Amino acid sequence: MAEVRLEGIRKAYGTVEILNDIDLEIAHGEFVVFVGPSGSGKSTLLRMIGGLEKISGGTLKIDNRVVNLMDAADRNLGMVFQSYALYPHLTVRDNLAFPLRMAKLGKNQIASKVHDAAALLQIEHLLDRKPKQLSGGQRQRVAIGRAIVREPKVFLFDEPLSNLDTELRVQMRVQIAKLHRQLGNTMIYVTHDQVEAMTMANKIVVLKDGRIEQVGSPHDLYHRPATQFVAGFIGSPRMNFLPCKLKAKDEARAEVALRDGSSRWLPVQAGAVEPGQALTLGIRPDDFVAPSERPGELVIEIDVDFVEHLGSATYLYGAAFGEHIVARSPTDHFHAGSGGRVSLAVTPSDCHLFTEKGKALSRLEAPRSWS
Ligand SMILES: Nc1ncnc2c1ncn2[C@@H]1O[C@H](COP(=O)(O)OP(=O)(O)O)[C@@H](O)[C@H]1O
Ligand SMILES: [Mg+2]
Repeated sequence: MAEVRLEGIRKAYGTVEILNDIDLEIAHGEFVVFVGPSGSGKSTLLRMIGGLEKISGGTLKIDNRVVNLMDAADRNLGMVFQSYALYPHLTVRDNLAFPLRMAKLGKNQIASKVHDAAALLQIEHLLDRKPKQLSGGQRQRVAIGRAIVREPKVFLFDEPLSNLDTELRVQMRVQIAKLHRQLGNTMIYVTHDQVEAMTMANKIVVLKDGRIEQVGSPHDLYHRPATQFVAGFIGSPRMNFLPCKLKAKDEARAEVALRDGSSRWLPVQAGAVEPGQALTLGIRPDDFVAPSERPGELVIEIDVDFVEHLGSATYLYGAAFGEHIVARSPTDHFHAGSGGRVSLAVTPSDCHLFTEKGKALSRLEAPRSWS
């Protein structure tokens, strides 16, 4: 078992607060991803869990034991970083064996653990090579192997794939996700790449400026972002944001007026927002459909200035109400590079609304795309 619990964790360098009030529960076997822009505090948080960075305040527990002051070496964690830090003069076999020799295991036991890790990571054929005879992806697998051999309770990864080219990143992403399934360990993984977060995590923790913005499953964060920041950060291409105003509201719905004077009722609760106040309408590029005069649908005229064909999808880039818009086209009848005006529709239940401060308004009904 390996549960990790953070209670009111803080980090300051001198008077500069880097992380504030971090409360988080990580259950045994979870794959948790810390995601956020560069400088949001992801690495610092991970390094505090790993014992590489002092904790300025709050309590860190592993399996219900307070470990704030415990040495990194005693926490039984396996760490993998962006830089592989393999010993260049040792073979892959000796690199893998190194932590076990340090732990004074017997020769046979070491050989068997090295063999198991190599088999798991499919690097058996590389055991006699030196790191410089390996590709980037192979080196990173060896680095993961070196973390695995000690059978740690929890794995900590800090952007382990950042140095790899795109294709390799995708392969390694799948490998690490598979590894998690095979080992069943708790894993905490830091990345600035929301696609990695979405594809690998059971639970995503979105960090911004040293605070947790939202914690949830990939599905939750995509369909029910708590803030405009999360809505914009998760999902690619990014969610579109259009200024609007609250026109009227009832218990379960809000009527919003767009800049062209048109208005629509959306199944979103306006809460404390009063008519006349500004809101931001959020629409995912993938939620545009062909207009079909469904009652209540929101039709948006887009001045398209660029069309991108990806094969499986066509994206339209342009503007509406003076804002940039990206829409996945419901048809592929547009010619690459061509422009023109197009009307696209959005189902009211697919719309998101945010207050001026960027908080999402809640809804009784899940978005259509939710189910
Ligand atoms: N040793 C340090 N001294 C002072 N500030 C630091 C130190 N390490 C990191 N920081 C600051 O802490 C913030 C968070 O950094 P970091 O955890 O590395 O972010 P991330 O991993 O999300 O990019 C950044 O503003 C960074 O400049
Ligand atoms: Mg970092």
